[in-house]
Amino acid sequence: MSQNSPVISLSDAEVIKEEVNTESCDKEESVKTESCEAETKTMSKNQQRKQRRLEAKLKFRPEKRKLERERRKEKRRQAISEGVVLPPSRKKLKQKLMEPSDISIVVDCSFEEHMHDGDIKKLVKQIQHCYAINRRSPCPCKYVVSSYGGKMKDIIENLSGATQWNISWREESYDSLFSKENIVYLSAESENTLTCLEEGKAYIIGGLVDHNSKKGLCHELAVKRGVRHAQLPISQYIDMKSRKVLTVDHVFEILLKFQQQKDWESAFFSVIPKRKGAQAKLDSNLCSSGHVTEGTTNETEVSESNDGKT
Ligand SMILES: C[S@@+](CC[C@H](N)C(=O)[O-])C[C@H]1O[C@@H](n2cnc3c(N)ncnc32)[C@H](O)[C@@H]1O
Repeated sequence: MSQNSPVISLSDAEVIKEEVNTESCDKEESVKTESCEAETKTMSKNQQRKQRRLEAKLKFRPEKRKLERERRKEKRRQAISEGVVLPPSRKKLKQKLMEPSDISIVVDCSFEEHMHDGDIKKLVKQIQHCYAINRRSPCPCKYVVSSYGGKMKDIIENLSGATQWNISWREESYDSLFSKENIVYLSAESENTLTCLEEGKAYIIGGLVDHNSKKGLCHELAVKRGVRHAQLPISQYIDMKSRKVLTVDHVFEILLKFQQQKDWESAFFSVIPKRKGAQAKLDSNLCSSGHVTEGTTNETEVSESNDGKT
């Protein structure tokens, strides 16, 4: 390194060293070896041009990285001086000690046989997104994936870093992980309505990406298992042009937002995509966020319909 070369941190140096090692004689240092010189001579003009471009790129990489780092720092400093509230950095997030509430959100992954491979991959993405939002939430919940196995497990195990996600991966079904009285299966088809979230309870989301082809499946199975179920109180707060069936990650995010703000309406508006055509209900303020609505039974957080029919 010449005297004018930029000073680079140890970690950068290590990264670069690693890259140099893996790209064999393509790299500046390696081309100096005799065998590589010989190889260079036997290269076509096109290959030699590529080689020169790569060498030039590697030469300036440390300087470029340093400039990028400084630019990012400057942008951050400027945002802070303008009073912008910045999201926590990755480093901060790693340092942050997660203190989840005693509410569990469970993604029930027992529907693999009902999904095409592409939809299993989509579900994995949604599970990953749930992890990211739970991690960033000021009120994280316990995040459990139940009936974990099969193709989904293979996909997840091949994702880098997935094993470190703060998720409890369980092969058991949700009803062997929690006692029946603590389970609430979320389902758009339920005749009951969720009014608030309670500590100690487990809220189950059906891990199913089906593009509406398996309407009511999760609800049907929850009824068969004899667990309580409830829909989100969407129609109490907003009018929607399309069906009220949401994706796994949207439901997850709504629960987290509600847990944080104790306000269903704002949770729905901040999460439900605009294309669903959500509009505020004029009388929505008549519904309070934490109380049982009229016509309910003795439950505290799920308001049940009078007839109990689906
Ligand atoms: C894409 S939906 C699956 C739709 C599927 N046809 C079914 O049988 O539920 C994924 C899951 O999100 C939850 N969900 C979606 N919309 C909901 C709503 N309006 N209320 C409560 N839960 C909902 C349910 O747990 C549902 O199983």
